[in-house]
Formats: sequence, structure tokens, C-alpha cells
Amino acid sequence: MTHADPKPLTSHKAGTIKGSPQIAGDKSISHRAIMFGALAAGETTISGLLEGEDVLATAAAMRQMGATIKKDEDTSIWHVTGVGLGHLEQPTQPLDMGNSGTSCRLLMGLVAGHAIKADFIGDASLSKRPMGRIITPLAQMGVTCESNTDQTLPLTVHGQTLPTPITYCLPVASAQVKSAILLAGLNADGQTTIIEEKPTRDYTENMLRAFGATVTTTQQDDGAFAITIDGKPTLTPCHIDVPADPSSAAFPAVAAVINKGSNLTLKNIGMNDRRNGLYLTLIEMGANLKLTNQRIESGEVVADIIIKGDANLKGITVPADRAPSMIDEYPILAMAAACAKGTTHMEGLEELRVKESDRLQMTYEGLKACGVECEMTEDSLTIHGTGAPPKGGAIITTALDHRIAMSFLILGTVTQQPVTVDDGSPIATSFPDFVSMMNKLGADIK
Ligand code: S3P
Repeated sequence: MTHADPKPLTSHKAGTIKGSPQIAGDKSISHRAIMFGALAAGETTISGLLEGEDVLATAAAMRQMGATIKKDEDTSIWHVTGVGLGHLEQPTQPLDMGNSGTSCRLLMGLVAGHAIKADFIGDASLSKRPMGRIITPLAQMGVTCESNTDQTLPLTVHGQTLPTPITYCLPVASAQVKSAILLAGLNADGQTTIIEEKPTRDYTENMLRAFGATVTTTQQDDGAFAITIDGKPTLTPCHIDVPADPSSAAFPAVAAVINKGSNLTLKNIGMNDRRNGLYLTLIEMGANLKLTNQRIESGEVVADIIIKGDANLKGITVPADRAPSMIDEYPILAMAAACAKGTTHMEGLEELRVKESDRLQMTYEGLKACGVECEMTEDSLTIHGTGAPPKGGAIITTALDHRIAMSFLILGTVTQQPVTVDDGSPIATSFPDFVSMMNKLGADIK
């Protein structure tokens, strides 16, 4: 799972971005489909699964805990035969989570509710990321995690047959933390409640309901959401149709927005209102981007996106309360802001510092190296665009972060000089065909 050799990639000026590519499946939904399928007794089928390294790490871990997970190469449908809630098997090897925070944090929650002990390991990036945010609520549920004093990987979760149900107020807006507690609560004897002040993606809640669990969401008088799961449900296998990933679609979308004369259609993109912040922001900046054919598929809102590269983007202020709905999209939004006329100010970015890299720092440094004027504080980024293509001509440090790599390669489609990223190999964690797709659309990335 660790990449031995860095793979530099250089993006040269593109002409226009044109076409109608198929974007791979949503990463968050794919992880959950594999996990919940592996837990429900019987066979779950999944179409449109993202076959990126992160999701494959989840599948490998679930196989180690007893599930059978196979792809039918003729139909591309994945078949997952689950063990039944409460019946995960003791893994004999450490669970290697690679680069994937979602795999690690959700699986810590899942292991917590089973009488097994699992060691969690990951790559250099994941091994720096905070796990205390999972260890603390699990401890309240009576589950012990052994870790170093930094509460980072490697660590060991000693699961419990019957975790204690708790009520927990999320200290950070994080769907991963919410999900880990809900998954530990699956095997608790009673109701587990999470209070979230800022709504984060709700795929765990939606999909657990589809598998037959009782999960209720109510908005309190103070505006916060209370999410309650009833312990010990019977999980019934089902079919999951995974929509295309809005976070992956963001890269070709922004490429089309910043390259004059582009014309791009992206179909069947997940538009859950807790995930669509980037698209609303681009429209606010003046992008010619239309969301059409909005519909519900497999319980999720999806839409087609039509983008024309004929807009003069303008700088705006992106408020802090929008952050959870576009948390993974700030690096690529920053590239659009660098091409806009005027100042874009983004607030509430503290969580960017603990993603696959310190994304705030990496975005800021990379933009400066490309000749873009910008300022950064602990939790904000201000970018002064001139409306003209930035200089470029830099080698960007990507620090094992797929989204930093893809964002700067997209910037390179428009800059005066090419942009190189020092290592493009982490792109395979979420968007394995990114380079070939972008080149087919008109980019020049080698
Ligand atoms: C995810 C939640 C987000 C996001 C990550 C995927 C999920 O993380 O950044 O890429 O699938 O639940 P946080 O919960 O840490 O914000």
C-alpha cells in the first residue's frame, strides 16, 4: 500500500477541456457499502464502486475479518458476503489502512463493538493524523485503544462484546468521528446519540437505514442535530448503486471553469446537500456551471453538471459554516480563486491542517511558488487573483496528498509555465484514472 518510488508529473498548458467523462464512484459511499455489506449476514451487491486504493484497503481489512468480497469482472458488480453483526473474526495480521483516514476511523468504530483485537497501521501521512478524536469517545463506551502519547498510528483497538451506549457531542465537525461512534453503537445495548452542531455528510446514517437499522435524526431547538442509533439491529443485505464522486468531479469541473472555451458535462454526480458546497461556491464566483436533471438514485440526490469555460470568475468570501459541505474541495477551489479577478477569502479551515497533509500550508506554499499572492492564518486563506493566468513554473511538494497533487496539476492546465508535482502516485488512492481522463479531455499531463 505504500508507494516506494515518487512519481513526478508535469502539467502543461491545455487548450480547452471538452467532453463527457464518466467519473468514478463516491469514495465515502464505497467505503461504507463494503463495510456494511461485510457486516450484514448474506450477500450485498454494489455497482459503481470506486476501485481506488483507499476503498481496496477497506475491502482487504473486511476480508481479514471474515467477509468474502469479489468483483464479477463481466458485470463490474461487487459481491460482498457478510459475517453478520457481532461476528467479525479476529484478524491475524495488522489492518493496513494505507493513506485512508476514512478506512481507519470507521473501522476502529466497527472493531470497537466486537470481541476482537485489531492493530491498525498506515502510511507516513496517515501515521501523523489525529486518532484521539476516535479514542476519546470509544473510551467512554468502555473500549480501550492502546496508542502512543500522540494518539496516532500504529494503535490497537480492544473491542467489547457490549459497548456502553453514550450521548456524545462532536467537538469537531467530522463525519468520520460521527460514523465511528455510530458503528460502535451498532452493537451497544441501547441507544447511542451523537450531537453535531454543523451538519456533516450523512452517508452512514442513510446507508445504515437502507440495511435495516433504526437511525433517527432530529434538529434540536439550538439548531444542532441529534443522531440516534438503536443498538443490535438486524442488518439485511441490499443493493447499493454508488453515485459518481463530487470531490473527484471537482477536478475536471474546475479545469473547465478556468480554461476559456471549455465545454464539459459530468453525469450522475452525487449532490447530497452536505457535500455540494464547491459547486454553489463556483456559481457564486460567476462560473457558468449548471446543475441539471436533479433526481434521487438509490436514496441519494444526483445531478448532471454542465460547465462552459466562458466566465470571468470573481473573488468572494467563503463563509466558515460552508466548510463541512466542501471540506475536501478547498485546494481545488483555491486554484479557481487564483485565476479569478479579485480577492477570495476562505474561513473556518482549521480541519484542513489534519487531512492527508496540512492542506492549508501546502496550498498556500504551492500557490506562492506559482506566483499567486496569498495570505494564511491558522484557519483561513486569502488569495488575490488578477484574472490572468498565474505564472506557474514551480515544483510542488505534495506530501502524500492526492488532492494537493490533482489540484496543482489542474492549475498547470492554465498557467504561463508548466506546473510539476513531486509525487503523483497518491492520486491512485481516490482517482486512479485521473491523468488519462484529464488528457482525453484536453489536458497535457505527463
Ligand atoms: C469523510 C469525511 C471527511 C472527508 C473525508 C471522507 C467520510 O473527513 O474529509 O475525505 O467519508 O466520512 P472528516 O470526517 O475528518 O472531516
